[in-house]
Amino acid sequence: MPESQLTPARRAARRRRVERRRRRAVATATATLSACIMIVAGAVMTANANARDADPQASGSAPAEVVAETPEPTATPTPTPTPTASDTPDDAEPFCTDEVTAAIDSGDAEAVVVAAGGGQAFRDAVVDGRADDCISLGHPAWDWVVVNKQRPLDPIDYAPEVVVPQTFSPIGAHFDEAAAQALDALVVGARDAGAGEIGLESGYRSYETQVESYNAQVVLRGGTDGADRTSARPGYSEHQLGLAADLVACEGQQCGTIYEFGDTVQGAWVAENAWRYGWIVRYESGTTDITGYEPEPWHLRYVGVELATAYTEGGYSTYEEFWELPAAPGYE
Ligand code: DAL
Ligand code: ZN
Repeated sequence: MPESQLTPARRAARRRRVERRRRRAVATATATLSACIMIVAGAVMTANANARDADPQASGSAPAEVVAETPEPTATPTPTPTPTASDTPDDAEPFCTDEVTAAIDSGDAEAVVVAAGGGQAFRDAVVDGRADDCISLGHPAWDWVVVNKQRPLDPIDYAPEVVVPQTFSPIGAHFDEAAAQALDALVVGARDAGAGEIGLESGYRSYETQVESYNAQVVLRGGTDGADRTSARPGYSEHQLGLAADLVACEGQQCGTIYEFGDTVQGAWVAENAWRYGWIVRYESGTTDITGYEPEPWHLRYVGVELATAYTEGGYSTYEEFWELPAAPGYE
């Protein structure tokens, strides 16, 4: 998205990300340069030693002269930036501590993120690889899992335990338990804020239900190309995790469609406030080249309050960028 279209907070966050990447690049370049200098110095010392063997007159070379003979580096090294946790994984605190492991054993995703030091610390550790021994973004039972066109559910027919939230739903949709509670809290939050009533059009969809949804879109959109821009193929939908909600705006038990939601008071409130309840708007406007889907202001993804806060404060527009994963515009 062009910078001019971003809010000031998002613009600042994007600049912080760019700066972080620049620092990493500088750190890598500096390390490479140091390695080159050491190699060259080693080669010169070896040459001097060989020369000494051949000609005893050459035996006076001191280390200082060796350094002086080292070729000037072609690039001027930039001063080493102040290290941060995400820039210096080797020096950073270990991630899979007893506290984190105990939280993992409890099965409470939010407790794991808190034990790790919060959403930002958790995210940084996953991105820089420190969390590899105990955290996977591919495990469908955890709130941080990433599913997209390049990352199917594993197993493909995964089916979570689900419950029925209190949120009004004409079809009685089901959810992961933590997500159900967070959805109910969001609905009450919108009501209390004077933003009106929110209803739920779709929650958990099994693999088999997603087959029906996807096939319906193929018919509606005249083929798979059109369907793929609006519906996930079976085994690739966040709805199959029990962690996605399609919202509608309601008055009493009369609700609009998902397609109208973005233009309603409820839709505007959700876009601004969903993160406070642990949800992110997963398919934002202008992100189709990364997510592979047209904008869906009605489709929320539950990730937990800690991660949703880090996501929002970081100014991210896609879950892929948050985790520094490749774009997933299409299937392999
Ligand atoms: N509509 C979203 C992409 C899904 O089917 O999961
Ligand atoms: Zn959806």
